[in-house]
Amino acid sequence: MNALLFERPVWFATGPLILEEEPQEMEDFTYHRPVLAAEVVELLAPHPGCLVVDGTVGGGGHTEAILKTGADVLALDQDPDAIAEAREQLSSYGGRVTVKQANFRDADKVLDELGIQKIGGALLDLGVSSRQLENAWRGFSMMRNGPLDMRMDPGSTITAAHIVNHYSEEELTRIFRDLGEEPAARRIASLIVKMRKDAPFTETLQLAHAIERVVGRHGRRHPATQAFQALRMEINDELGALEQGLGVLTARLELGARIAVITFHSLEDRIVKNFIRDHSREWLDRPEWPEPQRNREYDLRPITGKPLEPSENERKMNPRSRSAKLRIAEKIA
Ligand SMILES: C[S@@+](CC[C@H](N)C(=O)[O-])C[C@H]1O[C@@H](n2cnc3c(N)ncnc32)[C@H](O)[C@@H]1O
Repeated sequence: MNALLFERPVWFATGPLILEEEPQEMEDFTYHRPVLAAEVVELLAPHPGCLVVDGTVGGGGHTEAILKTGADVLALDQDPDAIAEAREQLSSYGGRVTVKQANFRDADKVLDELGIQKIGGALLDLGVSSRQLENAWRGFSMMRNGPLDMRMDPGSTITAAHIVNHYSEEELTRIFRDLGEEPAARRIASLIVKMRKDAPFTETLQLAHAIERVVGRHGRRHPATQAFQALRMEINDELGALEQGLGVLTARLELGARIAVITFHSLEDRIVKNFIRDHSREWLDRPEWPEPQRNREYDLRPITGKPLEPSENERKMNPRSRSAKLRIAEKIA
């Protein structure tokens, strides 16, 4: 079964897979509830006349909160479905919002095309949206069967099926261990390589069940959670895009403008933390240097020391916010 050949309506109408939920319920998604939205707006401090880049527009929740302050927004997302949804959602704001399909790592190109030099703020709210997770045909879910896809940008070439069926045992181990921090990484990789000799992996539940055989069930979390997250991060090069995007967006901030990043994973948070630390030291010193040297990357002031986390109330209202961490820094040079 080739995920690339599926037409969505055909998938819902005649797909051979067993859906755990009725299609009507799946059509009725509520889009991503914006995480830490009040904190983002307060600390990003957008205002009329400034242009904020939202690099991860998703369902447009944060973008809309920023638009309500009177600021304009350039909203990006690599997922064309998110773009279509956001355009509709935000249509009442007219020319104050520009919605474009792009990876935020390529924000430079988009800004150049629009003739924009400097921006008055930037936001990244990382990971997948509720809609992406809940749409079985996107292949992100280990609860609902769908093609093993997991691409946020369906125009990119590598799917989860490709990785699972073609990567070596060592490469699979590296992905599950390094990106998923999965203790059973080697055993999962070994079982996948053994099983795919009989039949290739094509569906999400097929892979989820195989992983469950290795990991077993402990607690409420699905045993394939970490392995699925690792595949998703690999397929979409999420850490690479984050490192590049932070550099690109920070370089475009005008003096006094801020960048806010919401992460959901310790590896992402470490990248953001280190980036802000590396950009907020005026001087660098090493034992082998005769004297400290000026840091050429020095251009930020951290606004959040420790990352901000959702309140108890927000966690209750929106369980997906549980692992969120918000870091903000201000352009100073
Ligand atoms: C957590 S959701 C954002 C939700 C949004 N803040 C809201 O209020 O609805 C993350 C979104 O970022 C997008 N995304 C993730 N990585 C991206 C990247 N490197 N470039 C562009 N979009 C990306 C995903 O496609 C997804 O739609």
